[in-house]
Formats: sequence, C-alpha cells, structure tokens
Amino acid sequence: MCGIIGIVGKEQVADRLVDGLRRMEYRGYDSAGVCTVADGQLIRRRAPGKLANLVVELERSPAPGTTGIAHTRWATHGAPTAANAHPHATDHLALVHNGIIENFRSLREALTARGSKFESDTDTEVVAHLLSEQVARGLSPEEAVKAAIPQLRGAFALAIAFREHPDMLIGARLGSPLVVGYGDSETYLGSDALALAPLTQRITYLDEGDWVVITRDGAKIYDKDNTPVEREIVASGASAAAIEKGNYRHFMQKEIFEQPTVVAQTLRSYVRQVDQTVALPQFDFDLSSISRVTIVACGTSFYAGMVAKYWFEQFARLPVDIDVASEFRYRDPVLEPGGLALFISQSGETADTLAALRHCKAAGQTIAVVVNVPTSSMAREADLLLPTHAGPEIGVASTKAFTCQLAVLAALAAHLAVKRGRLDRAEEADIVEQLLEVPACLNAALAHDSEIAAMAHLIAPARDVLYLGRGQDYPLALEGALKLKEISYIHAEGYAAGEMKHGPIALIDEAVPVIVLAPSGPLFEKTVSNMQEVRARGGKIVLISDREGLAEAGEGCLATIEMPKVHPLISPLVYAVPVQLLAYHVACAKGTDVDQPRNLAKSVTVE
Ligand code: F6R
Repeated sequence: MCGIIGIVGKEQVADRLVDGLRRMEYRGYDSAGVCTVADGQLIRRRAPGKLANLVVELERSPAPGTTGIAHTRWATHGAPTAANAHPHATDHLALVHNGIIENFRSLREALTARGSKFESDTDTEVVAHLLSEQVARGLSPEEAVKAAIPQLRGAFALAIAFREHPDMLIGARLGSPLVVGYGDSETYLGSDALALAPLTQRITYLDEGDWVVITRDGAKIYDKDNTPVEREIVASGASAAAIEKGNYRHFMQKEIFEQPTVVAQTLRSYVRQVDQTVALPQFDFDLSSISRVTIVACGTSFYAGMVAKYWFEQFARLPVDIDVASEFRYRDPVLEPGGLALFISQSGETADTLAALRHCKAAGQTIAVVVNVPTSSMAREADLLLPTHAGPEIGVASTKAFTCQLAVLAALAAHLAVKRGRLDRAEEADIVEQLLEVPACLNAALAHDSEIAAMAHLIAPARDVLYLGRGQDYPLALEGALKLKEISYIHAEGYAAGEMKHGPIALIDEAVPVIVLAPSGPLFEKTVSNMQEVRARGGKIVLISDREGLAEAGEGCLATIEMPKVHPLISPLVYAVPVQLLAYHVACAKGTDVDQPRNLAKSVTVE
C-alpha cells in the first residue's frame, strides 16, 4: 500500500531516499515526504500529489543529513494533503507508517486530553504522539517503543527517526511487511526488497511483531516479547533492472509483453516435460483426500479463481466454493473438515485475503496459496505454497500475475484430477502438451497488438462498455471490464452472455460497445445468439474469437480480433491478452496515467 524507506548512512541520504520512493511509487502516489536528522533537528519536507512534487520541494529546500526516513502514501484516513502526508513529527521524533491503526480514535482522544496537539487527520499521528510522550518522560527510543507499541491495534510497518539520536532508526512490523537491508557501513529499512534493490541484496524479513534498531553497524532485532532474536539474512534476489521500464512506454505494456516468458518460467515448476506429467513443487503433499475446495481472493486474482472453479469441477470433479475475500469471513462460511482452502494473490499481502486465510486456518482447512511474492505473509502461512514466477509486477493493473496464476491453477486442476483418478496417463500427457503450447499461443495473441491499438479509438469515446463471455470466458469478461475501468475510467461491466436478456440488455444502444469473448467450441452458438440479441438492438460488437468463430459470426461486427485456435483449458490464458491490450490502448488513447491510475495503489494492505 504505502511505501517506506529508511537509511542510516555514511553519506547524505535525501537523494537515495527519493530514489527508493521512486521504486515504490506504485504502492501509493497521492503524497510523499522525507525527514532527515541533522544538527539536532528533524528536517521534514512533504508534498501532495506525485513524487515529482516532493523532488521540487527538496530542490527548493534541501534536507541534509545521513540518517532519514521517507514515505509514499495511499490515503486511508484524511485527504491527500501536505498536512496528512508522512512523516508525522513531534518535537522528539518523526515516523512513517504503512497500515491502519484501528484504535486511533480512542488513542487520539486520550492523547489530546493529556495535551498532545494534532496537525493531521491521519491515524498515524497518534503513534508519533504516543512515542513522543514516552521520550518526553526521559525514556530511551527503545524503551519508548516497548511502552507505546503494545497500545496499538491494527496493522503497521513503522520507521521512526529520533531528533536526539541521529545515528539510528527504529522499525516495527505487525501485519504489514518490513525488511532490513545491510550495506557497507550502512543499514536500511524498506517496505519491500525492491525499494532496497540498488542499495543491497542482503536483507532480513522481519517476523510478525518484530521490532528493530538499525545503526551504521547493523541491526538488533527483538521479537514481540522484546527478546533479542537472530533472523536470517537472505539474498533478496530483487533486481533493480526488473523494475525498469526498458524500451516500453509503460510498466503495464512491458508486463503484458513479458507474459510468454514468465508463464513459461512458471510452468517449468509444474510440468515435467520428460515424462509429460504435472507435478506440484511440494511433491510430498497428498491432495487425494480433499473433499471440497474453497477459493478466496480479491480483484483480478479472484477472477483467476473463478476460472479455476470451472477447471476443478470439470477435470477433477471437486466441488468448489468461491468468494471475494472481503465478503468471505463475514458470511460465516461452513468449512467442513478435509477441505482445501485456496488463496490467490499477486502480492501475498492483501489484507482481506490474508484475514480469510487465517480464518480458514483456524477452522482446520489445509491452506494452499498461489502467490507471486514468495516471501510474503501468505506464502509464509501456507501449508502448500504454489508460487507464480511472474517477477515484480509494478503496473497497478495486474496482467502477467493473472496469466501466471491461471497457469498454476490449470496445473493444479490437472494434478487434482490425476490424484482423484479422473485423468489417465494419456489425458494427463495431453494436458501437459497443451500447457507447453501456452507461451507460443501468448506470442500469437500479442502479435495483434498494433491492430488492437488501431481499434482503441473506437472504444475510447464510449461512456459505457459491456463485456460478454460464457463458461470459463465469463470471468475473462469480468477481468476485461475491470482492466478497462481501472485504467481508462470508462464504466465497464462484465456479464455472463446468457444473463444479458435478464436486465442488462436495457443498456444497449449504438453508443455502447459490447466486447464478446467467444472461442469456437460447444458454447459458441449460444454466445452468438446472445450477440445477435445485442445487435438487434443497435449494439456495436467487437468479437474476439478464432478463425472458425470469426468466419461464422464476424460479419457486421464493429471490429474483430483473431486469436489462435486453442484447447479450452488454455483459452483463458490466451484470451486474457486481447482484453489487456484493449484496455491498455484505450487508456493510452484517452491519455490517462496507465501505470498509476487515479485512486488506486498496488497491494491493498488495509481491510
Ligand atoms: C486489478 C488488480 C487488483 C488486484 C487485487 C488483489 O488489476 O490488480 O484487483 O488483483 O487488489 O491483489 P493481490 O493479487 O495482490 O491479492
């Protein structure tokens, strides 16, 4: 959500803090701020809007010092103004925060009654005042943290700078990730390894409840009971190059084009080409006795789960429940023993999904996680970890993580089917062959890029756009609509094609483009009938199908996009490409901020 970086350095830090923020700006970009410690002062600079505004502010009034903290924000409490931007400061200290302090109202009332003066509408500022009270009582920074942190409810990653201690920072985490990085006579804090990638590859992931004191000499880590602990130092593997745009105009565009490579990379962990079998990374995990699957996720990851429901039911004959994470826990779901609860997430930190995971764990379910960040909270809490290897996804609109999730889920469906005796060897080998075709099919779909770019102007003026699909293409219709609305701000809805006539058809007129996803196959004729109902009411259709489908139903369409003819199992992966490209090019045609669309941020770590 928000991005945090802190440096106790041997040289000036302001530029490097801003550089770290630049790498994390995708996590939140409504305001940004920096605070350094020098000459017994806290030197704080903040600016609303994009990071560029903070850079201007720092050019106007530099922030000298070799120790500092910085933050890029996605607003939860309080508008995105300079006053609400982090760091929040008192006379004694300044801090940045990622997460939500749920009991901030009661703390704020109590602090106000005791004389604290608040300057912002944020939940974060109470933490600054709580700590400051302790420092004012004469406690050391460490003692102040021990006294104040247990009073906080909610989720936080914090980095704290103290005016009278220019050579140290304190970090703390509960519910939001925080890493420590080790350099050459420098030590760092970051909300993810990517922020620290150009500074160091040697990092430690803090555990839940940990807090840490960093100095130039290293880090002292304490657990939630304030006992000193050793935590492993690992190689981060995050490459600074992986978070550059290269020759692409946008991260989203780069990530769409990376799909053949990263899907192939992901499939290598799930498919054994030598003997044409599907194998999960944790081979010793026995899933044969699973009686039911409960899938929980948010947004695009939820749509990947919807596709998986079709596959698990069709191939493995396993009953599947699916829900968005924000609804799941609160409907008191019935979770019977022997169930597999499957969570899908790019970040592995989405607060609703993580809370649902913990709920299922407490209810005795086996926890499987399809996740792109192997060090994330969800990955750590899984019984069965099914990683995607999409690499860092920086564009706020998820693309390559989605197709990699589908690749893993297709392999998992096949594995479950084999385990349950629903697929024989020949059928398994056939599925493996189909999966191995995916990268080439993705390339074939990407070859339509310039054609899709050329048709974007047909969609860009629309106020509303509908997406239709049936069966496993229905979730893709939902995904297409989500992609379009989040980056182009055009109102878009996805519908099950057959559901149109039960209400939404009232919306159809010549100003509403209807994107139809219909690979030829058993459901094709039915989708074409629904398409004709739209056309009869003046609707303009963009048909995405294969050569056979276009030959049969392409005439009279506003536009058509030809996909390769593929096996039904892999068609959702392939048809994801044209909906991503269409949304991307429409957004470019409209001139919106593709990688940092308004009001959004990557990785939603608040409920
Ligand atoms: C849409 C998008 C979001 C995420 C959702 C879940 O393009 O990116 O809908 O899919 O916020 O995030 P993860 O997958 O990180 O749990």
